[in-house]
Amino acid sequence: MFKHIPPYPGDPIMSLFEAFQADPRASKVNLSIGLYYDSSNSIPVLDSVRRAKAMLANEDRPHTYLPIEGMAQYRQLLQEIVFGKDSQALSDGRVATIQSVGGSGALRVGAEFLKTYFPGSAIWVSDPTWDNHQVLFAGAGLEIRSYPYYDALTNSLKFEQMLACIAALPAHAIVLLQPCCHNPTGIDLSREQWQQLIPLLQRRQLIPFMDMAYQGFGDGIEEDAWAIRAMADAGLSFVVSNSFSKNFSLYGERCGGLSFVAASASEAATVLGQLKATVRRMYSSPPLHGARLISTVLGSPGLAANWSAEVGQMRARIKHMRGRLQQLLLQQLLQQLQPAEVAYLTAQRGMFSYTGLTPAEVDLLREQQGVYLLRSGRMCVAGLNDANIEHVAASLADVLLARGQQRALA
Ligand code: LMR
Repeated sequence: MFKHIPPYPGDPIMSLFEAFQADPRASKVNLSIGLYYDSSNSIPVLDSVRRAKAMLANEDRPHTYLPIEGMAQYRQLLQEIVFGKDSQALSDGRVATIQSVGGSGALRVGAEFLKTYFPGSAIWVSDPTWDNHQVLFAGAGLEIRSYPYYDALTNSLKFEQMLACIAALPAHAIVLLQPCCHNPTGIDLSREQWQQLIPLLQRRQLIPFMDMAYQGFGDGIEEDAWAIRAMADAGLSFVVSNSFSKNFSLYGERCGGLSFVAASASEAATVLGQLKATVRRMYSSPPLHGARLISTVLGSPGLAANWSAEVGQMRARIKHMRGRLQQLLLQQLLQQLQPAEVAYLTAQRGMFSYTGLTPAEVDLLREQQGVYLLRSGRMCVAGLNDANIEHVAASLADVLLARGQQRALA
């Protein structure tokens, strides 16, 4: 019966994570999948989450169904985190939000919805983008195109080309954007650049789809949502997906949200209704436990402050590791490396950096040193700590040195 089914070649990120877990070497370092490890190399259980868990354990509430759109309190608190407590769009009732199965679930439901109501629209993603963006959107039947983003020569943003490409898109084209901590490059638009892009999106009647998976890991919880809030204030109609996997360290609980910012409260209500219809035909209703945990944290001022401080600590640790790696590389490659060549490490934001390593160099790092990066050269800097950073820096230095020698020979 199932003989005709082709084997799954595996997912570039998940398969590498499995290979890492199966690697017996004690010195192995996981800088591949987007997981935040703390300074003791553990995936943390945040103190705010631990306390919420203890409170919920005492209450022993039933495991009932959530409404199709998710838990009301969770959705409201999520909206405040994403759009800001004083958001005009929220007080106007112009935002329709559903609880989603992680950020990926939000992208998939959003794509499904857009495919239904804008059947002729393609989705434009940055070049490069997160591998799974392609898979999720293709799964919903959307045509995927890309706009210029990353300049490999200078390890920076091709902003003018990006703008020119977007300026030529037809009305109702969907433009996937990341407001902070761009995955995979770590390169974000500046506020001045957003201020150029937002009116263009509006003028061209494009549909911005803002994907925010790392809120709080760039410059701050409020700061990282700046572009979303600027877009809402400018009166655009757009879509937002957000994830709490990283900033709550609740990866497996699959907690996120999908929000549509509409022109009016009645339009938002209609959108919400059709989002519910979309969810009901896909997976009926979202899971309960993670949403309860997050609502308990965000709904209690003490725990919310605790959480915000913990996000601050994670952010600071990532920044510190970026600086340390840069410093170590410069020390080890004193003669060979110009500071400008590793400036990207501290200029980029969030969990990821594009190192510019080739797939062959990444393979070498993994096979010889047990240092795992994605084959695109993406490094998850949130996997670095004081105990592994010297090994990583020395391994990277070897690869860069070998590259330099090959270039000299050629
Ligand atoms: C990543 O990009 O590594 C993360 O977002 C995890 C994933 O699901 O791919």
